[in-house]
Amino acid sequence: MSNAANGTAPGAGPSPGDRPIRAHVTGWGRYVPSQVLTNADLEKMVDTNDEWITERTGIKTRHIAEPGAANSDLCLEAARIALDDAGVDPAELDIVIVGTLTPDMPFPATACFLQAKIGATRAYGMDLSAACSGFVYSLSVADALIRAGRGKKALVVGAEILSSVVDYTDRSTCILFGDGAGAAVLTECPEGDGVLSCHLHSDGNLWKLIYCPGGGTLHPYSPEMVEQRLRFIRMAGNETFKHAVLRMVEVSNEALTRNGVTIDDVKLFIPHQANLRIIQVVGKRLGIPEERVFVDLEKYGNTSAASIPIALAEAKAQGRFAAGDLVLVVAFGGGLTWASALMRM
Ligand code: ACO
Repeated sequence: MSNAANGTAPGAGPSPGDRPIRAHVTGWGRYVPSQVLTNADLEKMVDTNDEWITERTGIKTRHIAEPGAANSDLCLEAARIALDDAGVDPAELDIVIVGTLTPDMPFPATACFLQAKIGATRAYGMDLSAACSGFVYSLSVADALIRAGRGKKALVVGAEILSSVVDYTDRSTCILFGDGAGAAVLTECPEGDGVLSCHLHSDGNLWKLIYCPGGGTLHPYSPEMVEQRLRFIRMAGNETFKHAVLRMVEVSNEALTRNGVTIDDVKLFIPHQANLRIIQVVGKRLGIPEERVFVDLEKYGNTSAASIPIALAEAKAQGRFAAGDLVLVVAFGGGLTWASALMRM
């Protein structure tokens, strides 16, 4: 089952020329907490070692939020930088969207907490749950709202405190995940620039490959739920790996075809930072040289919805793309969900 969002299908936006308006990303920001969890630290917690983690994942360190920190605190830090970068006052914002699987509370939305903290007084806010695809899904929604005239300026954040749902006795998952936030400011701009197209997919039949069973209505919080460790992430790593490669290649090609460009036209390819081996295989299958594939997961691990906006902000800070360059982002995560977006910077 695949909810294709291509061409005239929902999710891809109107065909070029249908509307005079697009959304352009005008500011980027990222924030990671100061506390660092190294592979050496993990060696003391579970039966693992630096060599295994490095060879199998490429990850060396991840950042972990302080106890008591809320997701919206991380959002706030990244959002301030992005707004500053864009030269946008929070009071000018129309839309605030937070992509996350680790919200402050079941409700209200983390976006509403962020709205209050940042002073986005006239905006409307909502959260979006699409696991590691959360940022690209949120970007697509903000883009569609701007194109539809439901606002001119949007703040889109991907943020996670994954350490709150990671089982630090499970060596197959605890080595992978980290905390952090990345933010983007989208502003209405003339056609021909900005977010060119977004492509969203999901397959709910494969939900069991990566999920967090507890804390919702199916397994509400209870002593039994906690005892059975249902509040933690569960993942079939090998199976997830295969789907990730297949779908990320597919949805990248979908974005290229939709816009009549080839991978040679793409200045920078930013894939979800889950595993270096996944990134390398996807890059190879797409035929893009390593120097045009962005990787920062050695420092941050898999930060789920925060992975792509953190990478984008970091790539911008490193001067890896300039105005007019094409940047292709591609995400994959629980759901299963997968998504891509092609942007002219
Ligand atoms: N240290 C040492 N050994 C380990 C560790 C560890 N940390 N973890 C697992 N092992 C062992 C296993 O027990 C197994 O041992 P066995 O052969 O004796 O049974 C062996 O290593 C191989 O295990 P695999 O699971 O086959 O290892 P694999 O090479 O597949 O790597 C990994 C595991 C890193 C999880 C990989 O499968 C992966 O990255 N999968 C994709 C994850 C992903 O993309 N997620 C995206 C979505 S995330 C989201 O949406 C929130």
